[in-house]
Amino acid sequence: MINTSPRRRHRVWSALAAVATVGLTATTALVLSSGTAQAASTLGASAAESGRYFGAAVAGNRLSEAGYANTLAAEFNSVVAENAMKWDATEPNPGQFNFSGGDQIVNWAQARNMKVRGHTLVWHAQQPGWVQNLTGQNLRNAMLNHIAGVANHYEGKVFAWDVVNEAFEWDGSRRQSNLQTQLGNGWIEEAFRAADAADPNARLCYNDYGTDAINSKSTAIYNMVRDFKARGVPIDCVGFQSHLASNENLSSYQANLQRFADLGVAVEITELDVGQGSGQAATYETVTRACMAVSRCTGITVWGVTDKYSWRDDNPLLFDGNYQKKPAYHSVLAALNNGNPGGGGDSGQLRGAGSNRCLDVPNQSTTNGTQLQIYDCWTGANQQWTYANGEISVYSGTTRKCLDASGGGTANGTAAIIWSCHGGANQRWNVNSNGSITNAASGLCLDVAGASTANGAKVQLWSCTGAANQRWSFV
Ligand code: G3I
Repeated sequence: MINTSPRRRHRVWSALAAVATVGLTATTALVLSSGTAQAASTLGASAAESGRYFGAAVAGNRLSEAGYANTLAAEFNSVVAENAMKWDATEPNPGQFNFSGGDQIVNWAQARNMKVRGHTLVWHAQQPGWVQNLTGQNLRNAMLNHIAGVANHYEGKVFAWDVVNEAFEWDGSRRQSNLQTQLGNGWIEEAFRAADAADPNARLCYNDYGTDAINSKSTAIYNMVRDFKARGVPIDCVGFQSHLASNENLSSYQANLQRFADLGVAVEITELDVGQGSGQAATYETVTRACMAVSRCTGITVWGVTDKYSWRDDNPLLFDGNYQKKPAYHSVLAALNNGNPGGGGDSGQLRGAGSNRCLDVPNQSTTNGTQLQIYDCWTGANQQWTYANGEISVYSGTTRKCLDASGGGTANGTAAIIWSCHGGANQRWNVNSNGSITNAASGLCLDVAGASTANGAKVQLWSCTGAANQRWSFV
């Protein structure tokens, strides 16, 4: 429908531009003072710098808790109602709509210039009892009337709707819900056409889980979207819920997003959460990087603000129960910032992807010329790096030292050392979206010699290969 509905397309991109403006306003001071784009320090502002949003699912009854509300307002620029806009909440009795829960969230968000996603118009779960017992044309009429009532009410207030949620099985067949068995294969198309009629400007999405790889389920959805686009059925985006395990295999995650984007729809990460475990931060980072790498990936929503109120019991979110930022928070922020031109502003340990060990100054030395190594990550000052204004530095005050290409070397094997900061090109670095760190003087990559993963392995510069011993992330 993007092709046939210029009115919608205009609104969608205007909304994105508005978010970008908010983000740029927030960072104007930094931009003016340095003359280069700076990394933002919150998830929402950072995402906005590339025209994206970073949102969270919200329960209205938590908004009165200061830690919850403050974290949500400070860090996110988009919200979605975790439950308040579902069918059971919005139409508890036939034709009697109740928008109080959804309106509370919309009003709260609008007062803070935050965007609102709509979730979800039609789903097999959380249907009110009266719907569950309907058959045939009565169910069809109820579905169409529900879509019209809810989408009309929120017209102009939500930028996107999950029109249909979770209609496919793992094997790619249609879920045998009451909607499928009573209404037949055409019900999804009917739902999208009804949503388009009710709110022609909202971005209309199909949303599902278990679509995190190129697999039977995602391929079935892909085929449906391709068919919809070919026949002019109004679909604008696909939501990837991304409820993940910490050791999830995401090897085809980005390629999967990209193949949908190539159909001419936006893609959105709609319900991201990742189970606790040693891979939690890295998994979040992989998802964020994937979105940043796909130009039609318009934003990320995590499914909750704090572990304390997650629907899962394995602490899957970015803030712990005390609203403290977890390592996963830092890896997401770094991934958002690294996707921005001119990035910087990251700090923390620099973890090597190949070794899972950290960039380390041996023996906590502060001596100019000390060559760096990788070592088990720990909290010592000799592993705390700050990326700002192109420099990557360690320690502070009079002992502050910069990551330096020894002797200004531009040959493979040049040692990566610490040296007093002087602003030279051999001390300026680009932290790239693919995880590589390149030296401004030589273009060479920060590299663990011999692709070693051992404690004490030397760090040097080498021609960029994209391999794991040249990929780093701030944690
Ligand atoms: O608020 C009532 C409470 O008054 C009552 O006593 C209690 C009894 O069980 O239920 C409470 O409502 C619960 C509601 O969450 C609010 O906490 C419901 O039982 C419970 O079923 C509901 O769960 C929600 C679930 O969707 C419903 O299937 C989760 O919060 C929500 O996170 C989850 O979100 C879904 C997405 O919509 C779709 N994708 C998957 C995702 C996770 O399951």
